[in-house]
Amino acid sequence: MNNGMINIALPKGRLGESVLEIFEKLGYGCPAIHEKNRKLIFTNEENGVCFFWVKPSDVAIYVERGAADIGVVGRDILLEYSPDVYELADLKTGICRMAVAGKSDYYDDTTKTLRVATKFPNIARGYYEKIGRDIDIIKLNGSIELAPILGLSDVIVDIVETGKTLYENGLEPYTDIVDISARLVSNKASYKFKNGKIKEISEKIIEYIG
Ligand code: PRP
Repeated sequence: MNNGMINIALPKGRLGESVLEIFEKLGYGCPAIHEKNRKLIFTNEENGVCFFWVKPSDVAIYVERGAADIGVVGRDILLEYSPDVYELADLKTGICRMAVAGKSDYYDDTTKTLRVATKFPNIARGYYEKIGRDIDIIKLNGSIELAPILGLSDVIVDIVETGKTLYENGLEPYTDIVDISARLVSNKASYKFKNGKIKEISEKIIEYIG
C-alpha cells in the first residue's frame, strides 16, 4: 500500500496489543484504534502511521508482498515459511519455544516411522532430518495436543508457552527445538524507499527494548 504512510501489520490478539503499546510509547500511536468498533484499519495522519490488524500467521504475507511496510510476526512463522522480508528487531515479547511433546508414557520405537502431528511441517521436518529420524508428518491446523491422545500421532511439534495446555492434556514436553519471540520485519522495497522512517521506528524500538 503506497499512501505515503508507514503501513504496519499487527497480529490480532494479545501479542499485537502489547506491541501496539510499544509503538504508542514511542510516539507512533493512533487514538482511533481504541474506539470500540470492528474496523481493521486505523490511520494517524499526524505521525504518518497506519495500523491494521491481521491474523498472526498472515502478517508475513502482507509484509512480503508490500501490502504492509513493516509488521510484527513470531519467529515460528519466519522459520516455517521463510518469507522474503528483512528482520529488523527482536521484540523480546511473545516468548515461547517450539518443542516435541507426547504422552508421558511415550517411548520412541526407532524401528518404526515416527508419526508427528504439527502446524509447522517445515520446522518439524528440518529438526528430524538433522537428527536422522524417519518421520511421517500429519499436518493439522490447531488443537494439535489432541493428536497423540487420540492415537493420530506419536508426538507433536508445537509451541509451548507456559506448558499449561500440554499439562492439562496429560502430555509432556521432551525436546526443545528452537526459541521463539516476536520480530519486527520489513518489506524489502519499503526498507529502501521509506528507509528514513522505517529506520527511525526500528531504532527507537531497539533502544526501548534494550
Ligand atoms: C498455542 C499452542 C498450544 C498453546 C501453548 O496454541 O499450539 O496449544 O498455544 O500455550 P501454553 O504452553 O501456554 O499452554 P494457540 O493459542 O496458538 O492455538 P491453536 O494452536 O489451537 O491455534
